[in-house]
Amino acid sequence: MRTKLIFGNWKMNKTIAEAKAFATEAVAFDKFAKEHGVDIGVAPTFMSLAAVKEIAPELTVAAQNCHFADHGAFTGEVAIPMLKEVGIDWCIIGHSERRTYNGETNETCNKKIHALIDNDMTVIYCCGETLEQFEKGLTKEVINTQIREGLAGCCKCCLKHVVVAYEPIWSIGTGKNASTEIAEDICSYIRSIIKDMAGEEASENIRILYGGSVKPENIRAYLGQPDVDGALVGGASLKVESFKQLIENIL
Ligand code: PGA
Repeated sequence: MRTKLIFGNWKMNKTIAEAKAFATEAVAFDKFAKEHGVDIGVAPTFMSLAAVKEIAPELTVAAQNCHFADHGAFTGEVAIPMLKEVGIDWCIIGHSERRTYNGETNETCNKKIHALIDNDMTVIYCCGETLEQFEKGLTKEVINTQIREGLAGCCKCCLKHVVVAYEPIWSIGTGKNASTEIAEDICSYIRSIIKDMAGEEASENIRILYGGSVKPENIRAYLGQPDVDGALVGGASLKVESFKQLIENIL
């Protein structure tokens, strides 16, 4: 039985003060979610990670990126031991915005994923196709490559530390949702690739999220799909009220 997971990706939003205000309220609705068998988490900017964790120590808090090296001459980067020092044990890897604007590749994602797993961290690995690829019918080809290259070398034990998020780029922040049929089709396809890579048990246990314009009004339909185990939510995760509604609407 896979526990549902709703994860807020705050991207480059919220000052430390704003993140603290959210975290203060999140303590109660994290407890509420857990009591109802739902896992939740948020991914603030690096600046706010320590503050959010301090206020809400039980809340799952992820970084939005990390470097694969422990330390070194990498200006502007943040290393895994630095995240761990402030209590962070989750990290998003390979979000399409990082692939598009920061040159993230399947290969760099793979290095980061192994470094995170070696450090007992949990990864949310994002994959998804562009509008052009979608329109050309290339979605499965793109996803297959992203999953096989990004998760290369991950055995079934490693995959216990991995959540996959399918986020079609054309649906992120656009209000243009992928239909629930598309979400289910691709999430079940990802599960079949995991089965091929690491076996049935790994594929049955791994959580696969859908992301892209998920809102309180549509989350229930996505999570009603057999292979969609949760949602990675951008815009609708920023306001406390809206985040709470995401949880309430799936109960
Ligand atoms: P959105 O973003 O919910 O604002 O579309 C999702 C994401 O990029 O993770």
